[in-house]
Amino acid sequence: MSLDALFDAAREAQARAYAPYSDFKVGAAVQGESGAIYAGCNVENAAYPVGTCAEAGAIAAMIAGGAERIAAIVVMGEGPSLVTPCGGCRQRIREFALPETPIHVAGPEGLRRTFALDELLPFSFGPNNLRA
Ligand code: THU
Repeated sequence: MSLDALFDAAREAQARAYAPYSDFKVGAAVQGESGAIYAGCNVENAAYPVGTCAEAGAIAAMIAGGAERIAAIVVMGEGPSLVTPCGGCRQRIREFALPETPIHVAGPEGLRRTFALDELLPFSFGPNNLRA
């Protein structure tokens, strides 16, 4: 599995983000269990709360593309600080990932930091909580 391909997909999606209100473009790319890559970007809306995050778009593309598990995800943001997934997106990732699944946080210059999902969302609630 090529991390470079995942970064490239996130960067390309970021360039196409629709973020006229925040002026903060984010791209995300997830790798499914077969190695296929699915990208997404944030899509804002004049009715602000209706806007969607890059991670949500990438995960929707993954599900629509027939994959079922997130093997890895890259989130590419702007600015000097770490663009870690928002709380809602951590939960969205959790639905399809394992505690150890890597979340690579990147900026324009490349990888900034890698987290395991469990670091960002400890003691999480997931499908098994409903089925236990
Ligand atoms: N945003 C994402 O797309 N992903 C993140 O991980 C953080 C925030 C978007 C939402 C909104 O369009 C803009 O960035 C500013 O919050």
